[in-house]
Amino acid sequence: MRLDRYLANRARLSRQDVRRLLADGRVQVNGEVSQIMDLEIRVFDRIELDEEVLQTGKAARYLMLNKPAGCVSATQDMAHRTVLDLIDEPDKHDLHIAGRLDFNTTGLMLLTNDGLWSRRLTQPTSLQGKVYLVETENEIDPSCIEAFAQGMYFRFENLTTLPAQLELLGTHHARLTLHEGRYHQVKRMFGRFNNKVIALHRESMGSLVLDEALSPGNYRPLTSHEIALI
Ligand code: URA
Repeated sequence: MRLDRYLANRARLSRQDVRRLLADGRVQVNGEVSQIMDLEIRVFDRIELDEEVLQTGKAARYLMLNKPAGCVSATQDMAHRTVLDLIDEPDKHDLHIAGRLDFNTTGLMLLTNDGLWSRRLTQPTSLQGKVYLVETENEIDPSCIEAFAQGMYFRFENLTTLPAQLELLGTHHARLTLHEGRYHQVKRMFGRFNNKVIALHRESMGSLVLDEALSPGNYRPLTSHEIALI
């Protein structure tokens, strides 16, 4: 919400009063005087009017989890363990998942309460590369490299996938870099070659790489450097 609208609602002031308050330097956002009427403010910002704290500013939370297999990428599920069951934090119910993984997919999963941050990663058109290690049931046909790089038409969504980079690591193993996040994308791409994905592991999202010190099921907060990478 814009700062002027927030102040008008929160302090029940007219637009004219708000303009005057701002011009007089009586409003502080995160400890600094702000006079910008259309400044976008968020739940994480601390807002003060004179000496009164109007909003304390919620702590933004960013966690990296090494998702184990056999666990649902959801915050609630009647039948199965969820990734949230692995988190032991008082405010865990404020968190959402930035980029889901299938039940048996393992690896890098990010949880946050910051919707703007997660949107940058998870919009279907987000160009942040997502890197997966793939193991397949059958030998990987080398023509996959060209087909994935060309893009693949998905009739259901009526779109062609963005060029993806496939690096063969062995007859049944590969590293695949996607630049978008479509539903079951990796499995559907290999499915075109009648090759079933039998293990899938996400190594990185954008410049954020899974911390190898995290064993499956464990998590840690992101560092400020990591948060700024997205
Ligand atoms: N693509 C898939 O098919 N599954 C995942 O979990 C992630 C990407």
